[in-house]
Amino acid sequence: MSSRCEAFCNTRYEMHVMNPLVLLATGGDLAQDQSMFYPASPGAESIRSLSVLVLAITGFIFIVVEGILIYAILRFRRRDSSGSEPPQVYGSKPIEIAWTAAPTLIVFVLVLVTTRTVWEVVPTPPPPRPDDRTLFVTVIGRQWWWEYRYDHYDGKELGFIAANELHVPAGANGVSRPVYLSLQSADVCHSFWVPRLAGKTDLIPGRTNQMWFQTDQAGTYRGNCAEYCGTQHANMLIRVTVEPAEDFEDWMAHQKKEQAPQDSDPEAVKSGRKAFLAQSCVNCHRVAGTPAQGKYAPDLTHLMSRQTLAAGMIPNTPENLRRWIDDPQKIKPGCLMPAFGLSDRDRDAIVDYLVTLR
Ligand code: CUA
Repeated sequence: MSSRCEAFCNTRYEMHVMNPLVLLATGGDLAQDQSMFYPASPGAESIRSLSVLVLAITGFIFIVVEGILIYAILRFRRRDSSGSEPPQVYGSKPIEIAWTAAPTLIVFVLVLVTTRTVWEVVPTPPPPRPDDRTLFVTVIGRQWWWEYRYDHYDGKELGFIAANELHVPAGANGVSRPVYLSLQSADVCHSFWVPRLAGKTDLIPGRTNQMWFQTDQAGTYRGNCAEYCGTQHANMLIRVTVEPAEDFEDWMAHQKKEQAPQDSDPEAVKSGRKAFLAQSCVNCHRVAGTPAQGKYAPDLTHLMSRQTLAAGMIPNTPENLRRWIDDPQKIKPGCLMPAFGLSDRDRDAIVDYLVTLR
């Protein structure tokens, strides 16, 4: 087995075997990361409250029904072998009324609270208040990654593109910073779900759905595509980084910068860029400030500002980048990027260039 293959197998092992073990060993922390029972946004809070109420009501019904059933089995079981049937009773008005009225009442209560929750969760157009620094992002679901087009923030146009890792500002000191997402799909149905921030909302070809969230708690929130969308559905992961407004604004300012070639660039970067621009990478990928203006694959302008590659599958390290460029199909079988059969020299040159895209 070549060392490359070994490295690959080890990573697969870590991904499929170690992750659940790590999850078990660390108990709360990682599990809490994607649990809807730890809401951090008003919409997620409403959904949690509704879930707890529904669980309580259905749990109560379960206990009552099972209790009566077990009682009946024990109390009225056959005690002798006389073979005679117990008295047969047909029809009872009080019982008929009780078991029609009680479920009707319960369903009525559930309809009312569900309707109230839907009103709280569904986005209304955000109020253009000066203290309301609303962020608008268009999310485009693609097989099997997420494109984020940053549209507006605080009334100003943004116009830069990121992928898979969504950065948003945290509210603070009574100033809320809501995030409005417009959800679209480039291919099939997907569903955007970050359980601690909001309920799942589908991305449907040919229509735009809306969702919103707002949180004061900085941190990384993880999520998944929640609608089966093909082979790599399970590896269409989401990371939302909620950071203090100043950090978010710094991040935005950085993301807006182009990566125009400089005379002062080291020789390795220049030849790496030349190799990158000479290959078919540029048909799909974009690096702002260069001739690479592809629109079908993740924008690479600030590739190294992301923590992961392949929509959250592997850490974004130069070594993983090299493995990915060598053959993406080994890491994410079925993904749209093929192995280009690059020479080791070209591949290393391209990696040397890509790692400068900070
Ligand atoms: Cu996208 Cu499942």
